[in-house]
Amino acid sequence: MATKCFGILTAGGDCPGLNAAIRGVGRPLMDMYQAEFIGFRDGFRGLIENRVTRFADGSLSGILTIGGTILGTSRDKLHRMTVGGEERDMTDVAVENYRKQHLDALICLGGGGTQKNALRLAERGLNIVTLPKTIDNDVANTDVTFGFDTAMAVAAEAIDRLHSTADSHHRVILVEIMGHNAGWLALGAGIAGGADVILIPEIPFSVDAVASALIQRNRKGKRFSIVAMAEGAQPKPNGKADRRKNSGRKKESKKDASDPCQEALHMSLVGGENCARLAHQLEDITGLEMRVTSLGHLQRGGTPSPADRLLATRLGTACAQLVHDGEFGVMVGLQGNECVPVPLIEVAGNRKTVPLDHPWLETARLVGTSLGEEK
Ligand code: F6P
Repeated sequence: MATKCFGILTAGGDCPGLNAAIRGVGRPLMDMYQAEFIGFRDGFRGLIENRVTRFADGSLSGILTIGGTILGTSRDKLHRMTVGGEERDMTDVAVENYRKQHLDALICLGGGGTQKNALRLAERGLNIVTLPKTIDNDVANTDVTFGFDTAMAVAAEAIDRLHSTADSHHRVILVEIMGHNAGWLALGAGIAGGADVILIPEIPFSVDAVASALIQRNRKGKRFSIVAMAEGAQPKPNGKADRRKNSGRKKESKKDASDPCQEALHMSLVGGENCARLAHQLEDITGLEMRVTSLGHLQRGGTPSPADRLLATRLGTACAQLVHDGEFGVMVGLQGNECVPVPLIEVAGNRKTVPLDHPWLETARLVGTSLGEEK
């Protein structure tokens, strides 16, 4: 029987656990099924540029515990890729390179964007299987994505550390937590870290409700507070929050925007803008001293937690078995305690946000955490 060849790539934002997943897929394919295993560099960019790494015996050793991805990644989309300064649809080139490499299947590790790119390739007749990774935990049809547990631990530890300095200085510290348009990370880390207020995109918040929670704590003699704010959290539309939107903020001048240094600085700060705006508003209303911390990419870096290593290895090995058995067009998700194949069509384009009846929300309310809701 001819030797089979399987390809793998990691796309979208990196996260802890990607290398554990590459190892989980590659080890059984190479060692048990004697297949060839190659990796495309830098996500879908490497697929269209045909840049590959050929994994040999032993080359997947020592990567289980390493953060990031040994293959590199990019946020390139197949149907809108910048090539030679122009935006082009490179799907045909990707299909051509898959054929040139004589692949029996391509395994794509990624979040929401990757699932869409992967479906595009599956619809062109390629054998595709995906795995769900992202610190945001927002991929549909899997209970959890790998990367989430580690990022939640990092964010919870940050909240722990902020407690002592907020307490010593009697300040309110707003900490901005990643998660794109989903609140999983802020909610999980906020509950685990004992944040006093947690704001998530799924529940547009009332600035007055947040202010009142802070004032009430202060009146009870608790002279500090921690607000865990998801980067996608927004105030309720047309509320007082909107009217106070620009209070205390310097308007960005045209000159600033055209200066490359100012622009770079602005890009690095833009993540914290919502949080900084809320801090200004809360300071105006409560008179309490505020500070803002944006955790940013810290949450994506470093060693994967044991839970992420275990999940990535389970999903990876389940994926290896599937591709060996010839089942394609699916994402391997975790449902209950099982790794199950889910049709890609049911995953791509569907984001899993925090449902309003999710038990974590009630847990937070029961321990007295404000979710920025009006009473
Ligand atoms: O990968 C998910 C994520 O970390 C989001 O939480 C965040 O909004 C985004 O990526 C940041 O993207 P980038 O690394 O491209 O700045």
